[in-house]
Amino acid sequence: MSGIRSDFISDYDDLADTWWDPRGPLAPLGWIARARADFVPVADHDRARLLDIACGGGLFGPHLTGKGYRVFGVDLSALSLREATRHGFDAVARADMARLPFVDESFDVVTAGQCLEHVPDPFAVVTEACRVLRPGGTLVVDTIADTRVARLVAITLAENAPLPGRPPRGTHDHRLFVNRERLTRAARSQGVELRLFGLRPHLRDGLRYLARRRERVRMIRTRSTGVLYLGVGEKW
Ligand SMILES: C[S@@+](CC[C@H](N)C(=O)[O-])C[C@H]1O[C@@H](n2cnc3c(N)ncnc32)[C@H](O)[C@@H]1O
Repeated sequence: MSGIRSDFISDYDDLADTWWDPRGPLAPLGWIARARADFVPVADHDRARLLDIACGGGLFGPHLTGKGYRVFGVDLSALSLREATRHGFDAVARADMARLPFVDESFDVVTAGQCLEHVPDPFAVVTEACRVLRPGGTLVVDTIADTRVARLVAITLAENAPLPGRPPRGTHDHRLFVNRERLTRAARSQGVELRLFGLRPHLRDGLRYLARRRERVRMIRTRSTGVLYLGVGEKW
């Protein structure tokens, strides 16, 4: 794909101090991380391992407390990884999500939140995620659909509205948004049948957040998967 930015990771190094700011540009990622955790089962043995692909500053970490996993993270942003180790990640590695530095079938759960829409071949990442997932393990991914409405919501509105929690302009490139059928097909070819759910912010929470009467917005499930969506499935 021509014209795709290659300096994207430095943005996350620059933003590393803002991962945990509830009114900062990455705040909505924390809301989504909270929703993602509901799809992670409690570990069924005492050496269970969870890998969070492109873990960023570790926003998922606190939501895994009590689930019984040793939590691993990979990301290319070194400064973000440093934050992750302060927030519930037991081990992190600086690595490309398309080439995970782990042996086959070495994790009980693999998650990839809000990262597939940042790479040119998200389906290869899903294949790689399934490779490191053990049979019977759970894959959880969430990303943005390749639809016009997603482009309107996630770029035109979200990146331009003068509101707290607004991602920096240029965070998203609509050409990288992820086709739902291709995603499910890629996972299925690796033995994972994904069930898809839509997610959106709870409207009243959103208004209270804007009015500074709440610090966090709940995400709720929707039937439409046309903007933000999550897929979950077990490996055969
Ligand atoms: C929108 S953030 C999501 C972070 C985290 N998953 C979350 O939901 O809070 C995208 C993350 O993907 C990372 N990233 C982008 N391209 C990557 C790649 N090729 N390999 C590993 N990490 C990558 C960025 O550094 C950033 O931390």
